[in-house]
Amino acid sequence: MINKIFRLDGKNIVIVGGLGILGAVFCETLAEAGASVIIADIDNDKCKDGAEQLTNRFKVNSFGIGVDVADETSVAAFKDTLLERKLTVDVLVNSAATKSKNFFAPLDEFPLTEWDQVMRVNVTGIFLMVRALIPGMIESGGGTIINVGSIYGILGPDQRIYQGSDYPEMGGLINTPFVYSASKGAVSSMTRYLATTFGAQGIRANTLVPGGVVSGQNNAFISKYADRTPANRMGEKLELASALLFLASNASSYVNGQDLIVDGGLSAW
Ligand SMILES: NC(=O)c1ccc[n+]([C@@H]2O[C@H](COP(=O)([O-])OP(=O)(O)OC[C@H]3O[C@@H](n4cnc5c(N)ncnc54)[C@H](O)[C@@H]3O)[C@@H](O)[C@H]2O)c1
Repeated sequence: MINKIFRLDGKNIVIVGGLGILGAVFCETLAEAGASVIIADIDNDKCKDGAEQLTNRFKVNSFGIGVDVADETSVAAFKDTLLERKLTVDVLVNSAATKSKNFFAPLDEFPLTEWDQVMRVNVTGIFLMVRALIPGMIESGGGTIINVGSIYGILGPDQRIYQGSDYPEMGGLINTPFVYSASKGAVSSMTRYLATTFGAQGIRANTLVPGGVVSGQNNAFISKYADRTPANRMGEKLELASALLFLASNASSYVNGQDLIVDGGLSAW
């Protein structure tokens, strides 16, 4: 019974941002639980490659379909592709997020164009995807939406932990920008709206709220972050993926409209 309620056999799951650092582990975990994962990310070829790997590794049907969630036409084309392939959607995971060129610029220098660019992916992207897919989900008997937020959509950042940070892949010194918090706060509120508006039509919506996950930050940052956290460490990708599995599966069938905060207790302090 316990094993069964976490299984996802026969479920089609769209993972938007499925090529990301967490996104890729989300895809693997849900495929391992038996889902047909549809990787939806900006690079069509990489989505297809990723899907092929999932199919070979987990013996599930997996698909890769490129989409730019910031672009209305692209989202419409994505929906058409699903229809052509007769793929109904049981679970939609909105995990895409973007960083602009000057993402870590201080608030008083942050370019408006980049504010728009980030909001367009992190917020408008979710609007476009749910607008496109919810009617089909309702028609096919309901489904589950999981939006990926952030602890910084709920808490103000402690900017002191970024002093001495270095994240080479992101260009050096990092911080939590205003636009990131704004967009992630919107993710949690969009989820609550979806839950209360479409609950009676069989749609469940929840936000997976990650705290900081180890993924290439320097030791100075990792240790400052750990000090702020009751668990005394950063999270691991799989700790987020297992919470996603709970939200995607029948194990969470009566959980609706919630923030599932996976942060080692950071927000409890
Ligand atoms: N990694 C963390 O520590 C952490 C912490 C808190 C919250 N989160 C959130 O978790 C989610 C997943 O994190 P991640 O580590 O995989 O992020 P990531 O930055 O590694 O990946 C984001 C993915 O979104 C895709 N994407 C960007 N713009 C897109 C667009 N216009 N259309 C389609 N796809 C687009 C990118 O190509 C990328 O594959 C994000 O929403 C992130 O904000 C992550």
